[in-house]
Amino acid sequence: MDLIAEQNLVHKTRDARRAQTMPKLSPAERDTLIKKYHPDHRAHAYRPIKFGPNAGELTVTEVANLLEGDSPIPSDFVPKPEYSVDVLVVGGGGAGCASALHAHAQGANVLLATKLRLGDSNSVMAQGGMQIAVAPDDSPVQHFLDTLKGGHMKNDHQLLKVMVEEGPSIGKWLLELGVLFDRDADGNLHVKKGGGSSKARLVTCSDYTGLEIMRVLKDEVLNQKIPLLEFAAVVELLSDGKGACTGAILRDLDNNRLIVVAAKTVILATGGIGRLHIQGFPTSNHFGATGDALVLAYRLGAPLVQIDTFQYHPSGGIYPEQLVGALVTEGIRSEGGHLVNGKGERFVNELDTRDVVSSSIIRECEEGRGVRTASGHVGVWLDTPLLDVEHGPGTLDKHFPAMVRQYERYQVDIRKDPVLIYPTLHYQNGGVKIDTNGETPAPNLFVAGEASGGLHGRNRLMGNSSWI
Ligand code: FUM
Repeated sequence: MDLIAEQNLVHKTRDARRAQTMPKLSPAERDTLIKKYHPDHRAHAYRPIKFGPNAGELTVTEVANLLEGDSPIPSDFVPKPEYSVDVLVVGGGGAGCASALHAHAQGANVLLATKLRLGDSNSVMAQGGMQIAVAPDDSPVQHFLDTLKGGHMKNDHQLLKVMVEEGPSIGKWLLELGVLFDRDADGNLHVKKGGGSSKARLVTCSDYTGLEIMRVLKDEVLNQKIPLLEFAAVVELLSDGKGACTGAILRDLDNNRLIVVAAKTVILATGGIGRLHIQGFPTSNHFGATGDALVLAYRLGAPLVQIDTFQYHPSGGIYPEQLVGALVTEGIRSEGGHLVNGKGERFVNELDTRDVVSSSIIRECEEGRGVRTASGHVGVWLDTPLLDVEHGPGTLDKHFPAMVRQYERYQVDIRKDPVLIYPTLHYQNGGVKIDTNGETPAPNLFVAGEASGGLHGRNRLMGNSSWI
């Protein structure tokens, strides 16, 4: 069958599928499915780490190789600080900008260094929204319980408590800075439901939530005149010889020169690992997501937690070729989009947690019920036109303008035709161990955002990313 014929099957089966309710899997069924199909359970992809604080623990080969790499600093290099600051923030995404702004507001002398440009980050690409318990029928306790369940009860309770309790005040801070979150007709914040959540809790800016938040955070960093070093990659942390962090060495990417920054405190906010393309997976991540904080912190002696578990977002594009790995927001499934295999059948409750949904898609493809593109990618359909059928014409245009445009660039009209998707490497569930202040066991070294570990347990819920 060609793709057009297979697409027609999605159109033909739509009405029958609309009448169907997908059952929820029992805990035992979920467990069996994940163990059989989730990429976290492919033993051949893992090996023990050879040395350092996590010696003997398993992680994927790509991460283990990185942790065991040599220092890029010549052994005869004598560090002479060019900058001396209270706080060096490393990373120009949401966590980096927010950390810099908070430290600056406390009167600290801050320097923000980023290896690309200010704002180049996964944060800018975040689509589906941010979970904060602000709806009248919701509460931080409910948010805590949903996240714990989604994380297979392996989340760090203290970190999670801070995230759910402080979430609403962070939302307020962003609103005051000028973020234009979506509103209901009566002016209240509009909230949407994400996979694995019992309540509608995602605050959104259509499907460009991260872009809008970063518009404001970037502006504020510039307004506050926080000194910036762009195209400056941190390549090693400095220590006092007893394990405490005292600054960093950066490489100026314009001229390959090393820059030394003495800092009382370093905050690593360099994001995740998508660009390691673990197990050959495509990724939704930006080009800078290369696990920098994991290596920098590990070399200073800070342990990592849950570094054997990664999030494969169920819906990464597989067609057209230019969109392979690109995110197709979970928001589409939240608003009722069906996942459909090559036989025209639904096969999973689309709003189950991401590990369950991804495992189900991989099962369909491995068992021959997927759809193959001309270039050999195999995936399943996401029935996007269904949203306009269910909620009225114009729904996709109004709620998913970025997604409509992303596909239109390649002559695919998601209002008329479904899109082909397959799991894409999206997030590191674990990261550098931190306490509730964000401090690692290495004194004066803090980690913020995706680079930190413990909050998400073994499966992060959509919209749960700590930026502070
Ligand atoms: O599907 C999404 O929009 C992704 C959101 C997230 O990972 O938080």
